[in-house]
Amino acid sequence: MQSASAIAHPNIAFIKYWGNRDDNLRLPENGSISMNLDGLSTRTQVTFSAGLPSDRFTLNGVSVTGPGLERVSRFLDLFRRLSGVQLPAEVQSTNDFPTGAGIASSAAAFSALSQAAAAALDLSLTDQQLSRLARRGSGSACRSVPGGFVEWLPGGSDEDSFAVSIAPPDHWDLTDCIAIVSNRHKPVGSTAGHALAKTSPLQAARVADTPRRLEICRSAILQRDFDALSSVVELDSNLMHAVMMSSTPPLFYWEPASLNVMKSVPFWRKHGVPACYTLDAGPNVHVICPSAAAGTVCQRLEQIPGVMRVLKAGVGGPARRLDPSLV
Ligand code: PMV
Repeated sequence: MQSASAIAHPNIAFIKYWGNRDDNLRLPENGSISMNLDGLSTRTQVTFSAGLPSDRFTLNGVSVTGPGLERVSRFLDLFRRLSGVQLPAEVQSTNDFPTGAGIASSAAAFSALSQAAAAALDLSLTDQQLSRLARRGSGSACRSVPGGFVEWLPGGSDEDSFAVSIAPPDHWDLTDCIAIVSNRHKPVGSTAGHALAKTSPLQAARVADTPRRLEICRSAILQRDFDALSSVVELDSNLMHAVMMSSTPPLFYWEPASLNVMKSVPFWRKHGVPACYTLDAGPNVHVICPSAAAGTVCQRLEQIPGVMRVLKAGVGGPARRLDPSLV
């Protein structure tokens, strides 16, 4: 029996990944930048054992079968192939945040699973190799492997498509105030969504302009320039959602309350409260602000009709293996 546990944080993209050049390898159309979310996490234990009839997967104590289990099994095959160990595995994962509603649960999940599977099989892999493997489970998972502020270099092949840290967690004291407007699982997951991106006539323009936005975002982070960060983060989110809404079939991830938040935040900013919004493939709104403003921002978000509650997350560290004696 070979077992290990790991923990990883979800991340929120400032410059979004939407659409693949290669769906199977999850090679993205464009580079992306994100921040890991401290305080929110996925813990995963993986045990490879000859005593199991086949792979098993439980998420938050509930057994997962069908396509969910199939995805985990295909992912574990990558590790079985690398190690030569052909044993079935049991994966137990728990999230301490709502699954499937725009807080990238698959990113934390596949990042933690990569760390745990590699450790259980005694594979000694570099962070780049782990990031490449995590990418195969869910593209954005490659960004939850390194810590802090992270850029996914899109690359041209499996070998050179991975994420690197551009600044450590303590570089800039930002908080993500996440306005939860729905706990429901999203109707169209991001794997299916990526495949639709190319049906939007706006996708080519969004992708072509991405190097410019990446540059603005990267230097805003390095210079801790919140004004510059705000405009590029909101623009990038709007561009991705414009692509989603103009795909065939169209994808509408927003709820009315999402728009309430999106209209309030720039108004607050205009009146001196530094904050900006961004949404992933779900209705919850991530409102990024310097931590000094987080109290005010959270209080105001709680007043907005349709906002059920607000979660707070600082800048998170890398995925890491958990000390076996503490598990
Ligand atoms: O990693 P995936 O396939 O769940 O895609 C994530 C897509 C977005 O969250 C919408 C954007 C991003 O860059 O995280």
